[in-house]
Amino acid sequence: MHKLEFQTRRQQVMRMIEDHSMIIIPSAPLRNRSRDIAYRFRQDSDFYYLTGFNEPNSLLVLVPGRPEGEFILFCQERDKIKEQWEGKRSGPEGAMSNFNAHDAYPIEDIDEVMPALLQSKKYIYYPMHRDSDFDTKINSWMNSKDIKPKNKHHRQELISLDHLLHDMRLFKSKTEITAIRKAAKIAVKAHENAIKRVRPNMFEYELESEFIYEFRKFNAEHSYNPIVGGGANACILHYVANDSELKDGDLVLIDAGCESNYYASDITRTFPVNGRFSEAQLDIYNIVLEAQLSAIDKVRKGNHFNDPHNEAVKVITQGLLDLGLLNGNFSKLIENEAYRRFFMHRTGHWIGMDVHDVGDYKVDDEWRFFENGMITTIEPGIYIDDGKDIPKHYRNIGIRIEDMILVKNNTPEVLSQSLVKDPAAIELMMGNQ
Ligand code: GLY
Ligand code: MN
Ligand code: MN
Repeated sequence: MHKLEFQTRRQQVMRMIEDHSMIIIPSAPLRNRSRDIAYRFRQDSDFYYLTGFNEPNSLLVLVPGRPEGEFILFCQERDKIKEQWEGKRSGPEGAMSNFNAHDAYPIEDIDEVMPALLQSKKYIYYPMHRDSDFDTKINSWMNSKDIKPKNKHHRQELISLDHLLHDMRLFKSKTEITAIRKAAKIAVKAHENAIKRVRPNMFEYELESEFIYEFRKFNAEHSYNPIVGGGANACILHYVANDSELKDGDLVLIDAGCESNYYASDITRTFPVNGRFSEAQLDIYNIVLEAQLSAIDKVRKGNHFNDPHNEAVKVITQGLLDLGLLNGNFSKLIENEAYRRFFMHRTGHWIGMDVHDVGDYKVDDEWRFFENGMITTIEPGIYIDDGKDIPKHYRNIGIRIEDMILVKNNTPEVLSQSLVKDPAAIELMMGNQ
């Protein structure tokens, strides 16, 4: 992403806050997976959104003011020995020359510099209550003995930055949409590989490997733990063990997406392990597909966030009624949420730098209206338990279909459109027609 994009974002967020204010965002910490082995570093999304700077032990400060406000970075100093072990660092000099910081300091100096930067500021915006150590740190800087006595009485207010910044992140720019399209394209290819390669008696992890391979080929990685669930495992919503054998006659549900250049994709497909849907599987699949297509059709400017969910609930309730899996009056079943036995999650979420992206779903307790540049997933599903009241041929079937939808005036754009989901097209791709 170009430096200018980050600069434009900084200017935009600075324009939204009052004079005499300051924004502070710490970088993500390095986290250990086990004992002293760290996960690969992933920068905090808010921090990255405004800087493009991907080093840990850093902190961003923005001070609005004429003409363009001030952008200050605290970061790790260059260190020949550390860099030999851990990789290159920018250092304060690099932060200024490569990332356009107006000023940059070694992170070690932060306790000395911050009280002075803070002292004349009335409003301090920061990611409040996300990390209690950081909350304490901000308070210690504000109450530092280094603050001049005349400023001690000056009232300072801490304000949560999330609402402002996350509303900005909810509306994707052209560059962001391009990045998300790329993440979708990589994941679509990986799903296609899995659909073509699956065979009875393979293990779920063998299918998972298709995703690791395809994602890393493009310098992307999983944006969440992939779900590869065969048979009844598809009914476990957050199934991640992925270690069972795939059985002839079962379906397999794959929910997998990647993160490419800090932007995520999130796609689900469900298909038959042996390349042929059974009649019972098709009965359920067609309801989910109709629910998904009808819900996607509601992702239009002017509709609200819950319209697609309401639509999916209607189609699924009617479908289950038609199959005899639900019994009773349609409106009553909806009112009593009877469908929740089989469809127990919501229909979508914002997606962007985070898979479950930021941005409020409601404003003043009312569902938010779709506007251009928002991206949501649409992912209805039906998961049938093995209750005695369920006909045998429907037991343990789990199906979800998930795509990413860009709000564009009156035509929802499915960013993962090219990935097959019509049952006949899936069977064709699997080479069984
Ligand atoms: N894979 C996470 C989700 O679908 O929300
Ligand atoms: Mn999702
Ligand atoms: Mn998903």
